[in-house]
Amino acid sequence: MNQRPVKVAVLGQGYVGLPLAILATEAGHQVVGYDPDEVRVASLTEGRSYVEDVSDVRLAAALLKGYKASTQPTVLSNFDVAVITVPTPLTEGVPDLSFVLAATDTVADFLRPGRLVVLESTTYPGTTEELLGPSLESRTGLVAGIDFHLAYSPERIDPGNPQFNLANTPKLVAGITTQSLSMALDFYSSIIEKVVPVSRPREAELAKLIENTFRHVNIALVNEIAMFAHDLGVDIWEALDSASTKPFGFMRFNPGPGVGGHCLPIDPSYLSWHVQKSLGQKFRFVELANDINDHMPAYVVQRLMEGLNERQVPLRGSKVMLVGLTYKPNTSDLRESPGLQIANRLDALGADLLYVDSHVPLTTQIECVSLSAETIADMDAVVILTDHDDVDYRLIEQCARYVLDTRRRCYGPQVERL
Ligand SMILES: NC(=O)c1ccc[n+]([C@@H]2O[C@H](COP(=O)([O-])OP(=O)(O)OC[C@H]3O[C@@H](n4cnc5c(N)ncnc54)[C@H](O)[C@@H]3O)[C@@H](O)[C@H]2O)c1
Repeated sequence: MNQRPVKVAVLGQGYVGLPLAILATEAGHQVVGYDPDEVRVASLTEGRSYVEDVSDVRLAAALLKGYKASTQPTVLSNFDVAVITVPTPLTEGVPDLSFVLAATDTVADFLRPGRLVVLESTTYPGTTEELLGPSLESRTGLVAGIDFHLAYSPERIDPGNPQFNLANTPKLVAGITTQSLSMALDFYSSIIEKVVPVSRPREAELAKLIENTFRHVNIALVNEIAMFAHDLGVDIWEALDSASTKPFGFMRFNPGPGVGGHCLPIDPSYLSWHVQKSLGQKFRFVELANDINDHMPAYVVQRLMEGLNERQVPLRGSKVMLVGLTYKPNTSDLRESPGLQIANRLDALGADLLYVDSHVPLTTQIECVSLSAETIADMDAVVILTDHDDVDYRLIEQCARYVLDTRRRCYGPQVERL
């Protein structure tokens, strides 16, 4: 660590806040994680991590070094740096900043002159300067940029990514003044390999939304092509392999059963909402991408019905195994997962469902099984929705009568792909 240790309060101990709190502890800072969720805090206090990127071993070491999770706001007292990493969902299609505002109020109660407040939650341009700053000012009587410092630094964490983690992914940092920027750069460069200064928070806020909108739109593009390609009798996967041999001007995205998680189904709509509200204009790309990606779970169900129909099996009463319920491989994150939507549709249509997903806690309504030759052979269909690495795809190929594979992990005459 190249800066002096400070007291860091991280508000929100989820997929973003917990890895940050642990990394800051490892770098020598005194860290408290404030989260009103009693179950999460109890789990952390007992040394059980619910975020894949933080192992129980790392959590135990952090606890020994003084990291403390708490539901009590008083743990924030005397903080030097407060980082807000709370959810920014859509409520009835509209950005819901109530969590950010609640966390801001908590910070305000303990904010003292000279301290730094950073927002990391994904949000529309202007939030830090127009919402967070005034909110802190009105609660404390202190002036943002003069009495206390304020910054925005979007999170780029990619849960389950074996190559890029919080420490080695470049981090954008923007302050509302030069001094706010300098303090935020000091803090983040003590824990992250490369920090990238941005001149104002609104550009950093937009940068994060550009990253996620880019991904959302490109996944929608390839999903739409996949649906056409199937009807045209063209193998989309081989076409993508072929296009990917171009060494410039092309970036590969793969089709899938839809998009999930806290980012893609939500963040682009923050931008389209903001554009509509501020400019009265529609962000047409986002609307189209939402439309296509939202349709994918229904498309997968339709393809399954067609595949079963060809095998003279009605969907109602058929035995269907869903492989991978989370929205992306090697994580336990079920939020907005298209797998759940597909399961609900199939259940409503009368399919007899089982699922295989070692990452998902056993709290879903569908029966969870471990993969075995007998269970696979007993199924009318196996549907690969998310391709976790711990699944034996060769066993599925060998034993299944019919596989609908949305991720291209299986091969063979009984396998149909998206
Ligand atoms: N998950 C990702 O991969 C990812 C990646 C980049 C950015 N983000 C963004 O980061 C933000 C947080 O996402 P997440 O995935 O960590 O969410 P999460 O739901 O995993 O965690 C958020 C935590 O905040 C807590 N919380 C709620 N209200 C609070 C309050 N008033 N004070 C303190 N804590 C409070 C919740 O109990 C929860 O534990 C969102 O804006 C999200 O868009 C997420």
